Amino acid sequence: MSEDLMDKIVSLCKRRGFIFQSSEIYGGINALYDYGPMGVELKNNIKATWWKHMVQMRDDIVGIDCSIIMHPRTWQASGHLESFTDPLVDCLGECKQRWRADQLDTMQCPACGGPLSEVRQFNLMFKTYVGPVEEKSAEVYLRPETAQGIFVNFKNVLNTSRMRIPFGIAQIGKAFRNEISPGNFIFRSREFEQMECEYFIKPGTEDQWFEYWLEHRMAWYVKALGIKPEHLRFREHTQDELAHYAKRACDIEYLFPFGWQELEGIASRSDYDLRRHQDFSGEDLTYYDDIARERFIPYVIEPSAGVDRTFLCVLLDSYSEDMAPSAKGGEEPRVVLKLPKNLAPVQVAVLPLSKREELCRGASMIASMLRKHFRVEYDETQSIGRRYRRQDEIGTPYAVTFDFQSIEDNCVTIRERDTMSQIRVPISQLVQKLTELFDEE
Ligand code: GAP
Repeated sequence: MSEDLMDKIVSLCKRRGFIFQSSEIYGGINALYDYGPMGVELKNNIKATWWKHMVQMRDDIVGIDCSIIMHPRTWQASGHLESFTDPLVDCLGECKQRWRADQLDTMQCPACGGPLSEVRQFNLMFKTYVGPVEEKSAEVYLRPETAQGIFVNFKNVLNTSRMRIPFGIAQIGKAFRNEISPGNFIFRSREFEQMECEYFIKPGTEDQWFEYWLEHRMAWYVKALGIKPEHLRFREHTQDELAHYAKRACDIEYLFPFGWQELEGIASRSDYDLRRHQDFSGEDLTYYDDIARERFIPYVIEPSAGVDRTFLCVLLDSYSEDMAPSAKGGEEPRVVLKLPKNLAPVQVAVLPLSKREELCRGASMIASMLRKHFRVEYDETQSIGRRYRRQDEIGTPYAVTFDFQSIEDNCVTIRERDTMSQIRVPISQLVQKLTELFDEE
């Protein structure tokens, strides 16, 4: 994958309203991003697909939505206060930049060549205060992972649902990390979203469930998101890189333009979290297996995916350039996002051939009719060719064009994004035809 693909994606994201730099009118703020009208649709569709496959299509996983700020003891128990750190060095030379020591292969500042300070551990959690007084007892943290909300609610879910082991609790939500070296656009930012599941199992079955989740999660990227299998791989963690809670971990990596990098982490967390919360809270977090008649603290397998990284991977994998017929005759280059149809921000574009009133009136009526069934965008600005280019760039699978002939024969043209082939369909059969086309995927 070429490095300039990243520049093309960043530019497309801004040009077409997928992603903006946060607080741009004030000069922006580093490693924080806003999702625009197209971006929020795509992001919601990715999250909905994950939720559908992880929660709604299964009977062994339920959802939860926890608060971002939790009791500060949570982070003592989880080990994050002590261990969720990165090694930091300061440039003592001219530029005074800060670096992650474990990402440097030199003892000098990569920017100015100056000497570097001693390594010190830097905690990645954002700290704030609850209530009006900024004192030690009011200190709280923005959660650095959604997982802990699930662990502290284990008993609540167990007592209020009919779940029996093996079962999972899933959550999608914001997480915050004060990263020392964020970068590569939304790949590593300071505020991002996670899609996490804690799957509770009987101790001793962790290896078989770990394999199950590796296979299951990899299949999701390929089958549900349409990611090319050759752009995905597993990478097992070595013992010295395991997170403080993990007995075993394996990443699903994607071939980003800047190399193979983590898209999702799958970790075997043993009973670490529940046991620690039991010790710190004094609450009994054991599970009674009434068939085997034994009591134990469940083990956990955790598939943990990043929404923003998945978003970036979906854009990179669907980006394509080819040639399209030009309005002036001949061909012209076009950019097309070959997004899976269910993920596209706009599913159907409705376009009058020109801005003539009778065409706009007919097309508007069709847009209203289709809106009940699909995500629709009506567009009457610019030439038809430029409108097709815009829809191709945001990945709209179908464009419906209302032309002069439509007034006569009550038919419209459906244009398919990838092949640019066109079919003529009676307006009375349009919803049915489009539904069939969407179902084909
Ligand atoms: N609960 C486990 C956990 O948080 P992680 O590997 O630190 O594990 C899980 O994070 C996923 O969250 C990663 O695979 C990645 O997709 C996403 N993620 C982590 N840090 C991120 C950051 N700074 N920016 C964007 N996404 C991030």
